[in-house]
Amino acid sequence: QWGLNTKWIGQHLYHYPQVESTQDIVHQLAKEGKPHGTVVIADEQVKGKGRMAREWHSPEGKGVWMSILLRPDLPPVQAPQLTLLTATVLANVMDKRSALVPSIKWPNDILVHHKKVAGILTEMQAEQDRIQYVVLGIGINVNQEDGEIPSMIAHKASSLKMESGEKWDIQEFVQSILSTFEKTYDSFIEEGFQEIKQEWERYGYKIGEKVTISTMRRDFKATLLGIEADGALLAKDEQGEMEKLYSAEIHWGEG
Ligand code: BTN
Repeated sequence: QWGLNTKWIGQHLYHYPQVESTQDIVHQLAKEGKPHGTVVIADEQVKGKGRMAREWHSPEGKGVWMSILLRPDLPPVQAPQLTLLTATVLANVMDKRSALVPSIKWPNDILVHHKKVAGILTEMQAEQDRIQYVVLGIGINVNQEDGEIPSMIAHKASSLKMESGEKWDIQEFVQSILSTFEKTYDSFIEEGFQEIKQEWERYGYKIGEKVTISTMRRDFKATLLGIEADGALLAKDEQGEMEKLYSAEIHWGEG
């Protein structure tokens, strides 16, 4: 049904009409020993999870709700690179398939016209200094119409259809994501992070621009410079001091 022409990703692919969360299913499959590249896709999630314990609204047939099992032979400190890699894959695929110009808001939200259309949730299981496995969750709002985005977030979230005016074929979209993911991942393992970093910065939202950053300690204005290999955001404040940020909120526009 999915007609994938990939080497390893999606060789084990499970497709469900309705699940609580594809993340939980992949954790289960990982514990059963399923291989690197196993994929779970659902038409609908009734308990979709976002980052920071937020809910991820995943209505039936309206988006890509998918989780990928990875078993990389990497130290846990490199796990953030997999999230950044995934963001570049999503941006690339959207860029190629439409006139939309996607950008990546640090750490890993995909925006179109300043609104979030996709998010990534990375969950890792590590033992000593090795990653045991990673569950990479991808959520993309694809075919929601006006009024189908929860009103609480409607001012800052959208769907590809709302932004492009076109309906998207979800199955085709998943195929391109998986095949682009496989190529990008393989070259990352071969060549390292440098290429991903450049790609990320090419799509990076407000890179080179001045924004307001809130951290636990303070709010300040700074110019965003790019990302570091450990996933940190690099910024330069108005006093010319460099800041490496691991956890922060970026604001833009007025204020
Ligand atoms: C975010 O907060 O931006 C991340 C959202 C991740 C949502 C996806 S949808 C597929 C997978 N299953 C989940 O429950 N969450 C992720």
